[in-house]
Amino acid sequence: MSLAHAHSAIRGRFLDIQAVVKQAAEIPEQLRYIEDGLLITQDGKVKWFGAWEHGQAVLQALQRDLELDPVTQNQTALSVDHYPDQLIIPGFIDTHIHYPQTEMIGAYGEQLLEWLNTYTFPTEMQFEDKDYADKIAAFFVQELLKNGTTTALVFCSVHPQSVDALFEAAEQQQMRLIAGKVLMDRHAPDALCDTAESAYHDSKALIEKWHGKGRNLYAITPRFAPTSTAAQLTQAGKLKAEYPDVYVHTHLSENHNEIAWVKSLFPEQKNYLDVYHHFGLTGSRSVFAHCVHLEEQEWQCLHDTDSAIAFCPSSNLFLGSGLFPLKKTWEKQVKVGLGTDIGAGTAFSQLDSLNQAYKVQQLQGDKLSAYEALYLATLGGAKALDLDDRLGNFNIGKEADFVVLNLKATALQSLRQARAKNIEDALFALMMMGDDRNIQATYVFGTQVYVNTSNPQ
Ligand code: GUN
Ligand code: ZN
Repeated sequence: MSLAHAHSAIRGRFLDIQAVVKQAAEIPEQLRYIEDGLLITQDGKVKWFGAWEHGQAVLQALQRDLELDPVTQNQTALSVDHYPDQLIIPGFIDTHIHYPQTEMIGAYGEQLLEWLNTYTFPTEMQFEDKDYADKIAAFFVQELLKNGTTTALVFCSVHPQSVDALFEAAEQQQMRLIAGKVLMDRHAPDALCDTAESAYHDSKALIEKWHGKGRNLYAITPRFAPTSTAAQLTQAGKLKAEYPDVYVHTHLSENHNEIAWVKSLFPEQKNYLDVYHHFGLTGSRSVFAHCVHLEEQEWQCLHDTDSAIAFCPSSNLFLGSGLFPLKKTWEKQVKVGLGTDIGAGTAFSQLDSLNQAYKVQQLQGDKLSAYEALYLATLGGAKALDLDDRLGNFNIGKEADFVVLNLKATALQSLRQARAKNIEDALFALMMMGDDRNIQATYVFGTQVYVNTSNPQ
């Protein structure tokens, strides 16, 4: 790669949160808003970030160096992508999503357990076919980028080839994805079941093949306690002990019938989370989707083990699962990120998730501010994934994943934005009304990977 290709320069209005916080009230102190800023990337990472007035000299020096370089002498100098009217923020992080469920989004009428049997399992059976998995994986990755999502923690299907398909598609975009093969050895159709042993060996082979290859990371992925025997959860725990820096990704306490079922299947465990904890599946790289109906002891266990929650408002409303008490994550000091949970969630857009997250809090008498929402979808998500040293803001050295937002994608949005009081109000209105139409461009590892051709710049 030539020097010129290794760099990119983006000028515009930037907003991010500079540091992880312990309380929502601390977020405004960490907010960084630069009306006319410059971001320079090198080899996919943030090389320089600050005000344009200071950055110009840095840019000129870099351009001089590039011109002097014998390899790039004859190439055009580094150009600047300028977005004068847009807002540039770190890429959205989706902490829970199922790629094989992309095509069954919006399936009518059922709550969790019936929904799984009626819609989900038949859909996931198709991923035995690698060609089919390739087709959906490519669509899925494109849809993430189109929605400004640059990192996701993803469920594949039970088939190892479904994992290959997804990581191959992510690699083409140099995208940081965390994913894994579903483990499921009971209470599902035979065609979707593995065994305790095959789950172990297949997952181990996939870890060896993919974990840490490029930007890919692996997650051991038991679907949820009801579909794994104790023998399989033992194998999952064994794998986690062998590969401590691999993730664990599963579901927890989403629906009342599910919780009662877990209690009947594992009567010797204190509660639902205790099942996972007992098998060594909690920890700072464990992410539990939903957690809508946790008991006090479960909150405590999440805190004590530094485990994370994926809050999935769109899914929780769609399946009628319940209202997640986001405020409690601050009280109990439990890490939390935002998930779409496609296909129980009804949109890929994290702007849409934030809209629904706000309403879920309203129904509980709580407020979700625009800045807390931004934190949840960016740096807070990075922290939940134990990747806040690499993702989530524009600090020097971070991986340069970001999204360019057009705040006025529709006539109604233009009308509303024209009377926005300040950047916080503008951001809030965007979150309440926005979707993929607001994504002007998406950059992954310093490279523009998506541009919205229907939005004039
Ligand atoms: N619990 C177990 N499997 C699933 C799934 O695919 N989606 C959701 N929302 N919950 C689950
Ligand atoms: Zn899910």
